[in-house]
Amino acid sequence: MCGIVGYTGNRSMDSVLLVGLERLSYRGYDSSGIAIVSEGELSFWRKSGKLHELEEMLKDKTLTGTVGIAHTRWATHGKPNEINAHPHLSHNRKLAIVHNGIIENFHDLRMKLSRKGHIFRSGTDSEVIAHLVEEYLQDDLVTAVEKAVLDLEGAYAIAVIAESDPDKIVVCRSGSPLIIGVGKEENFIASDINAIINHTKDVVYLEDNDIGVVMKNDFYVKKTGGAKVSKEINHISWDPKAAEKNGYPHFMLKEIFEQPMVVRRIISKMISDDKVVLRNFKMSDSKLKKIKRFIIQACGTSWHAGLYGKYLLEKYARILTEVDISSEFRYRQMIMSGNEVVIALSQSGETADTLAGIREAKSRFFNVISFINAKNSTMDRESDDVIYSYAGQEVGVASTKNFTAQLISVYLFTIYLAILKGTISEEQERNMVAELKRLPEYMEQILSQSDEIIKIAEKYYLSKEFLFIGRSVNYPSALEGALKLKEISYIHATGYPAGELKHGPIALIDSRLPVVCIVPKSETYEKMITNIEEVKARKGKVIVIGTYGDEQVKKYADDIIYIPEVSEDLSPALAALPMQLLSYHIAMKLDCDVDQPRNLAKSVTVE
Ligand code: G6P
Repeated sequence: MCGIVGYTGNRSMDSVLLVGLERLSYRGYDSSGIAIVSEGELSFWRKSGKLHELEEMLKDKTLTGTVGIAHTRWATHGKPNEINAHPHLSHNRKLAIVHNGIIENFHDLRMKLSRKGHIFRSGTDSEVIAHLVEEYLQDDLVTAVEKAVLDLEGAYAIAVIAESDPDKIVVCRSGSPLIIGVGKEENFIASDINAIINHTKDVVYLEDNDIGVVMKNDFYVKKTGGAKVSKEINHISWDPKAAEKNGYPHFMLKEIFEQPMVVRRIISKMISDDKVVLRNFKMSDSKLKKIKRFIIQACGTSWHAGLYGKYLLEKYARILTEVDISSEFRYRQMIMSGNEVVIALSQSGETADTLAGIREAKSRFFNVISFINAKNSTMDRESDDVIYSYAGQEVGVASTKNFTAQLISVYLFTIYLAILKGTISEEQERNMVAELKRLPEYMEQILSQSDEIIKIAEKYYLSKEFLFIGRSVNYPSALEGALKLKEISYIHATGYPAGELKHGPIALIDSRLPVVCIVPKSETYEKMITNIEEVKARKGKVIVIGTYGDEQVKKYADDIIYIPEVSEDLSPALAALPMQLLSYHIAMKLDCDVDQPRNLAKSVTVE
């Protein structure tokens, strides 16, 4: 989604704002811009395209000023062009705003303001905020912002600067994340800690309806229409180096190769003496034992991890589990008969649809357990309990290491519940944990086959479409494999449960269609072989992801990538890796920008 960064202090504005935008550009990247107030005068620069366009425009300038704000955009209203890029200016051009989110009543506000003589320059919903603040601005910028936001409907994180108040950045949030970074003789604002972490690790998280007033030597927070509130300063323990590529050409590749390390980290955090532990979990074991139904809701890759969770939770913990896409979840009647828990899965902890689902569930008194990667995210703060995926910062827009981390966390949570309920024995737990401990090494074996995967990518990268099939726990793997390919190479790909092939998608198969078949040794193996024969009979190209030493499946395969033999339950955490690499190398052959694929955003904070 869009990213915001702002600065007040003694450094040059470009050194802070451009670097901040660079570190935010994984969130949205169709245009960018900066506005500063210098010697009481507002100036601004905007450019469509990726950030380097703006950098090029500013390359010979040193921007000095008292306050500055910057934005990288992911278009919702209005085309991704220069006119629609942020910052947006008021009618009199003396005030500038940047905005993340969507203003739902912008048509009405725009009409009202146009009648008062305001001339709008862009096609965005955001511009209305600048005009509205101007309309309310008499002598105090803070009061004007406060009045303006009361008129807004929708989701927003806003930062405002004005010539009339050249020492202040006024920020406000409702539904979109925003933080204040606290420094010495300098302060920052940002939509995401990444933007400022190389300058400060002390941050204040704003809550909905907070107004933050940020000056060089001070800041305060108040409630919209209310009094000042005291805010805790949180110290972030991350290493900013985590957001660097460490010699890899892309974040995505680095993150694919980090997966063995991530699994080791999860094991160290969630397993003690070969038993699963849930750290800082508030819900008591007796309450956990009584859960009768889970309702999982998530988006994108996280939804696929949720589908996997259904298989495991039902199989081992014997708890009925439903899985919804978050944006559809709210349209269902949530029938509560007692002892249901809503589970949310999210890498970012900020996805608006998933967050809305959490809020809806909480308003109906459901307990919410969230599986989240980003600590201190909004979902982290709003969920009753959180299980972290410990994937470390994920920068590549297409999720990779967090997907496998989610699978493993769900796997371990299931074991914990199953032991509590007595639906598995302690010996089973020991075996399941022992197998998990072998996973990092297995992942390393798969990653060492990169060269073979590159050859397969070279063979198929010109295909117009792909099909991915799998059964049982590897049906979500098929969906995830197809999503990865679509996201970064723009090749149309569909994931299907293999048994459903004959009910429609088989019509697509001809000699040009590559079909990725996920067929590890499992209970569904023979049925998968039948489905592969069906593909072969129609001359489809069969790319197999199979178990080392499987000679039977090799007979049908045009190409084969081996994964080590594991139980079916853990096979999706291995099968994901060759598919991620295949997508990556196909995208490379097609010269696509894998870390910042077109039209996508890492964290989508609008509904
Ligand atoms: C966006 C990203 C996807 C991601 C989805 C859910 O659409 O492009 O890669 O899977 O959001 O994100 P979350 O942070 O909630 O897991």
